[in-house]
Amino acid sequence: MNPLIISILATLFVIIGTCAVFIMLEMTGRVRDNSGKTAWRSIHKKLGWIFIVLFMVMLAVMIQKVSVFQEELTARAVIHIILALILIPLILFKVLIVRRHRRFSNILPVLGVTILTLSFALTGITAGYYVLHRSNLSYTTLSAMDADILDVELGKATVSKKCSKCHSLERVYRAFKSDVGWAGTVNRMALLDSPNITSFDVKQSINYLVEQQKIRQKKNGVNLEKEIGQTLVTRKCSVCHDLDKVFDSEKNAQEWTATVKRMAATMDDPEFLSEQETADIVKFLSGRLKE
Ligand code: HEC
Ligand code: HEC
Repeated sequence: MNPLIISILATLFVIIGTCAVFIMLEMTGRVRDNSGKTAWRSIHKKLGWIFIVLFMVMLAVMIQKVSVFQEELTARAVIHIILALILIPLILFKVLIVRRHRRFSNILPVLGVTILTLSFALTGITAGYYVLHRSNLSYTTLSAMDADILDVELGKATVSKKCSKCHSLERVYRAFKSDVGWAGTVNRMALLDSPNITSFDVKQSINYLVEQQKIRQKKNGVNLEKEIGQTLVTRKCSVCHDLDKVFDSEKNAQEWTATVKRMAATMDDPEFLSEQETADIVKFLSGRLKE
């Protein structure tokens, strides 16, 4: 579920809990005035049930999230889970006392206030966190401001750990991409494996993947432009037909531009090839003639 929706639910959860507690205080705290109690009681009861339903929905979301998470949980997450678990018996006690064991009803106000306090803490550490970290979930790219946090060794470790879950690392290292190309791929992968690849991981991975190509370029004399073109053609031009169709054709740059544009138009997806990718492919395919 979208974190924004959860934040809204959590805010509602706290507001409803607060209203229920104030109504309860109005009912039981005021000594002389007995008027309108039944109406307040019925509102209190309805709010109480809405509160419980919201709690259960959020509990289900929490369990689902924790179950797909592979990393060690953060302290914040652990506190959050403990608070949520403590709330379960407290809410259960409250319902049981109200419905079956009225003799204990004098502890209900204390129970109510305790539940509200825990709910505040529970919501505060998570909703607050999501509001502050909303950008975590959007498309992550490198900017000049990231220079201080980027570390090639950390990036290498991140890629070996996080990118070998669904396919071999070979698949990663076989590909050569431009900076923009890597940013696109890593973001796509992070989306596939949410929430295990964080925006910090994305940054470190993009940085490392771009840097390691440069190192290979220097060491092994890799022609980066050619490899980037080759990667793009292998990936994009084998969707509808064999690559033989591509490699058997001899065309100049102008002809290739026309063909690639025609192919992209056949694909009928504006995202299929960017201007840059088109240019990289044309350069690669027309460059083959000269070799
Ligand atoms: C949740 C599983 C999963 C994880 C984790 C994952 N990938 Fe992938 N990856 C895929 C799938 C599925 C494909 C093939 C379909 C596609 O290309 O979308 C793929 C394809 C690729 C390709 C070839 C396609 C292309 O765009 O060139 C590359 C390169 C790649 N992944 C890199 C990475 C990197 C780098 C990471 C780590 C940041 C990573 N993957 C993590 C599932 C994953
Ligand atoms: C959406 C499907 C699709 C994709 C993606 C695609 N092609 Fe094609 N391609 C076709 C079809 C259909 C034909 C045969 C009919 C034609 O020539 O239009 C073809 C034919 C060709 C031909 C032979 C005809 C000619 O004009 O010389 C070449 C070369 C070619 N494609 C290159 C490419 C390249 C390069 C790419 C990657 C940028 C690519 N194709 C991606 C569908 C596609």
